[in-house]
Amino acid sequence: MGAPLHIAILTGGGDCPGLNAVIRAVTLALARECGARVTGIERGFHGLVARRSRPLAPADVAGILAEGGTILGTHNRCDPFRWQGADHSAAAVAYLRELGVDALVAIGGDGTMQIAERFEALGVPVVGVPKTIDNDLPATDRSFGFDSAVAVVAEALDRLATTARSHGRVMILETMGRHAGWIALEGGLAGGADVILIPELPFSLQALAERAQAVELADGGAGSLLVCVSEGVRIDGDLVVRERVDDAADPVRLGGVGHVLRERLQPLVGCEVRSTLLGHMQRGGTPTAFDRVLATRYGVHAAELVAAGRFGRMVALQGAQVTSIPLADIAGRSRPVPPDHELLRAARGTGVLLG
Ligand code: F6P
Repeated sequence: MGAPLHIAILTGGGDCPGLNAVIRAVTLALARECGARVTGIERGFHGLVARRSRPLAPADVAGILAEGGTILGTHNRCDPFRWQGADHSAAAVAYLRELGVDALVAIGGDGTMQIAERFEALGVPVVGVPKTIDNDLPATDRSFGFDSAVAVVAEALDRLATTARSHGRVMILETMGRHAGWIALEGGLAGGADVILIPELPFSLQALAERAQAVELADGGAGSLLVCVSEGVRIDGDLVVRERVDDAADPVRLGGVGHVLRERLQPLVGCEVRSTLLGHMQRGGTPTAFDRVLATRYGVHAAELVAAGRFGRMVALQGAQVTSIPLADIAGRSRPVPPDHELLRAARGTGVLLG
């Protein structure tokens, strides 16, 4: 009998609720499945460059199922193939060899999967696990973290609704999601938004102003309006950019469209308009029960792929089934809200203005 497998695991890109649940599931399932030893690489791919790692025994992952963030830390800029002006990939592979690692489990979004695929090409066997609150990874119907983000949006809208009604105001809530409208759409539906604006659908300021004007006349002037806007919505064709992170693969960080919308809308209506930017509240904190279970299923499936020697694949949820697809199938693709999606019909069917 050969030595037990030795597997490295890392979390890359922005954090999201459920990462620890995956780390826990992979560690426990690998120990049960094939007695494998697990090493955690710290701060995503940066740990391979900075040579930072630590052993992960089943006892190390006890009690982390419900914990937000990632116990391993993460990094949303470091790509060892081009980090601070140099290619560190050979040194990263050498570090894995020194550790005696047989394979790598990489938990992350599209950027992480692309880097993972390049390591696979250098001879490091890899299994990917998809994560993003944005829910925009192709070939998987749900990424863990999304449900938790939606729950935060719904709660924020619930809270905004009562203050909006008290003052007869228009309340704008801006969500994350990058160029996909999933969080705003599902969160907006869950929180009873009257208007949901997503990047995939064109929007008219005039139509929004008319809806807001109708509010002023409703309930003797005490009507209110809840607007849920995704950060990737364009105003007059332009994205609203919060900042640029120059050494990142995707340097543009969106944010602020809600405030711009408020400035544009206020002069067109009589009632007061306020805006709230939810920001990283959507990424922090404990995962929902749904995300804990999904993350656990993903982690166990990743461990099964490792034990079976099926590398170069990413775990995915298709319908109700956890399965896997070739890593190469997702490179450079994203998954926007399709214009005929059933959620859009549900929104329109309940009178929500979508653009
Ligand atoms: O991709 C996840 C996400 O939270 C996006 O929704 C958001 O635009 C971005 O990351 C924020 O990135 P950062 O944490 O670097 O500000």
